[in-house]
Amino acid sequence: MAGRDYLRRVLIGGNKAKPTFEQLIDELVKPLVLLNGRVRSIPPLEQRMNITGAKVLVVGAGGAARAAVFGLKDRGAEVWVFNRTPGPAQRLAKQARARFASKGNLKKMQFDVIVHATPVGMGNGKGPPALDAKDMNARYLFEMVYRPAETRLVKQAIAKGMHIIPGAEMFVHQGARQFEIWTGKPAPLDEMMNVVQRALA
Ligand SMILES: NC(=O)c1ccc[n+]([C@@H]2O[C@H](COP(=O)([O-])OP(=O)(O)OC[C@H]3O[C@@H](n4cnc5c(N)ncnc54)[C@H](OP(=O)(O)O)[C@@H]3O)[C@@H](O)[C@H]2O)c1
Repeated sequence: MAGRDYLRRVLIGGNKAKPTFEQLIDELVKPLVLLNGRVRSIPPLEQRMNITGAKVLVVGAGGAARAAVFGLKDRGAEVWVFNRTPGPAQRLAKQARARFASKGNLKKMQFDVIVHATPVGMGNGKGPPALDAKDMNARYLFEMVYRPAETRLVKQAIAKGMHIIPGAEMFVHQGARQFEIWTGKPAPLDEMMNVVQRALA
């Protein structure tokens, strides 16, 4: 408990209101999450559309989804969160001032983009995609899974006439940002993309 008391003292002073340990961690992590979302998942979308006002469904409620939800909200998107287990999606939606989407409502909803942020499909894993084809009503699928490039979810989306934003783009933007932080020089984005595409092929 010494660490908890230390955090309280550093962040809010010893005798003020007492947030829970989870709230303290949330406050500490929030700026990193915002930066993370902006840096990693936003550029591939920004290259294709105006994010402000775009309707986005984020599928998943883990770390990658969290980064995307906060990054998108930060840029003025209208964001819904859907997850296999409703609880984490409801909590994430509440924390980010986004909206929770229930399974039953998805087939009636229309989005500009669906962001897939679960591990389903990674490494040709078995099992059904995290979203049924009937629930995929959007112009774009942003598939965060980067290996293989053509997951079952991507095949479903193509069959529905959706455009695909591949996970490899996010992967490369993440590396590019790290390159720039460490070297202070612009990252050779095209070259990095070529190398990653060759490695993942
Ligand atoms: N392209 C990139 O640069 C990049 C970067 C980071 C991550 N990613 C991708 O994003 C994925 C998720 O990463 P993460 O760090 O967010 O993982 P995580 O924190 O473990 O979150 C996993 C999420 O996926 C859901 N999920 C897991 N198995 C599922 C299944 N069989 N059906 C439906 N939902 C399922 C979980 O739902 P429950 O709450 O119900 O368990 C949870 O919401 C990674 O595996 C990777 O493919 C890509």
